[in-house]
Amino acid sequence: MFLFFRLRHRCISNVRQMISARFFFCITCISFAISIIWIHFIDARNYSNNDSLVREALENVAKDHRFAEVYRKADRLSKDMKYMLLWTGDELEPFNTFGRGQRAFIQRNCFIINCYVTNDRNFFGGDVTKFDAIGFNGRSMESMSPWDLPGKRINTQKYIYFNMESADNYPVCYEHFENFFNWTSTYKLDSDIPYPYIHIKNINGEVIGPKAEMKWVESSGPIDNDVYRLIENKTKAVAWFVSNCKSRNHRIKLAKNLNRSLSIYGYSVDIYGDCGELKCPRDGNCNEILERDYFFYLSFENSFSEDYVTEKLLTALQHNVVPIVFGGADYSSWKNNYIYQDPSNSDNVCSVCAALNDKELFESHKTYSHFRYWWNPNYSNRCIPFFSITS
Ligand SMILES: *[C@@H]1O[C@H](CO)[C@@H](O)[C@H](O)[C@H]1NC(C)=O
Ligand SMILES: *[C@@H]1O[C@H](CO)[C@@H](O)[C@H](O)[C@H]1NC(C)=O
Ligand SMILES: *[C@@H]1O[C@H](CO)[C@@H](O)[C@H](O)[C@H]1NC(C)=O
Ligand SMILES: *[C@@H]1O[C@H](CO)[C@@H](O)[C@H](O)[C@H]1NC(C)=O
Ligand SMILES: *[C@@H]1O[C@H](CO)[C@@H](O)[C@H](O)[C@H]1NC(C)=O
Repeated sequence: MFLFFRLRHRCISNVRQMISARFFFCITCISFAISIIWIHFIDARNYSNNDSLVREALENVAKDHRFAEVYRKADRLSKDMKYMLLWTGDELEPFNTFGRGQRAFIQRNCFIINCYVTNDRNFFGGDVTKFDAIGFNGRSMESMSPWDLPGKRINTQKYIYFNMESADNYPVCYEHFENFFNWTSTYKLDSDIPYPYIHIKNINGEVIGPKAEMKWVESSGPIDNDVYRLIENKTKAVAWFVSNCKSRNHRIKLAKNLNRSLSIYGYSVDIYGDCGELKCPRDGNCNEILERDYFFYLSFENSFSEDYVTEKLLTALQHNVVPIVFGGADYSSWKNNYIYQDPSNSDNVCSVCAALNDKELFESHKTYSHFRYWWNPNYSNRCIPFFSITS
């Protein structure tokens, strides 16, 4: 009898548990359904879907199954979307970080995501004047003749010049690029949409540079003991990780000279990679060795161009190593007590979309009438071999 009661009791409580589980399951389902319907309703209200541009874009998007996930609903694209066509190939930086559609901006949690990127020239049925902007990558433009350019152009459209490489290595030589670009997005600090390799943040994490006119705060007092502890075990002088052994500025010669001078004191410049005798451990990370053993690092750029300073400087700064610099930027005033970071994967991409959506900026007129000179003041000298080869 006692056993029977116990069993009955257990049975009932099991059933109760099942019922309550089912109850919660139902509630969850219902609220989920309600929210789906609600979202659908809101969507339908917010986007009246009769804008021909958006319709055309959607038809194109719908054809591409890769975007099914992002654009499941046909009216997801907002009407004030900015469309940018990548005219040159999208396999090189920075275009390879843009991806297609809105993804680059959504995935990076950009504040403004209202931009749509494609490299499909037939996106609007082949009418490239319907794009708000057309992007050109300077790295892919070296032999771009007038016939490779967009056939038709309208006044409100922005032609944007992108380039991450140095102007010395990639001068613009053709005259048809004068009076051609409206905006630039490069490492040069006076670009319309600066695309730097390094962001400088203050102690509070605010981006304060790089800028042409920096307002530095003087370092406050000596460095603290933590930093001494981080460097106390270092024993070696200078490291350099490098794989491009030929560069126009002959940086390798400078490194060898430095090595010769140091050898008098029993120190050396240790070159890791294809241009030196040392290799980084296969499993380990070069930067660990740098951080543990070295006092200095050669942050040598491959060429001299105004403002051209790359992540090579970060290699040193982020591993408690003093950079020895060689390049065309103005390094004179860089201070400690700032944070130096690589922005290229988030902030730079976001800032392109932000600029396209900045009404005032977008509506202002601008043309680079001396573009070749702006990009590289020495272009006429640098272009002579180029022209003698091609003509
Ligand atoms: C867009 O929709 C609105 C309201 O539905 C309508 O008044 C307007 O005429 C439509 N515009 C076009 C271009 O079809
Ligand atoms: C320095 O070496 C000592 C002794 O080997 C070790 O305990 C200490 O953690 C090292 N310091 C750093 C910053 O690696
Ligand atoms: C640096 O100098 C030492 C001897 O002084 C030599 O063994 C070494 O190969 C040199 N390294 C480079 C990168 O020239
Ligand atoms: C862009 O540049 C072209 C060519 O110089 C010019 O005709 C056009 O007005 C400019 N557009 C804008 C929006 O600045
Ligand atoms: C300009 O280019 C020529 C040819 O490459 C070079 O010899 C010269 O040093 C350059 N001048 C400057 C200021 O970079």
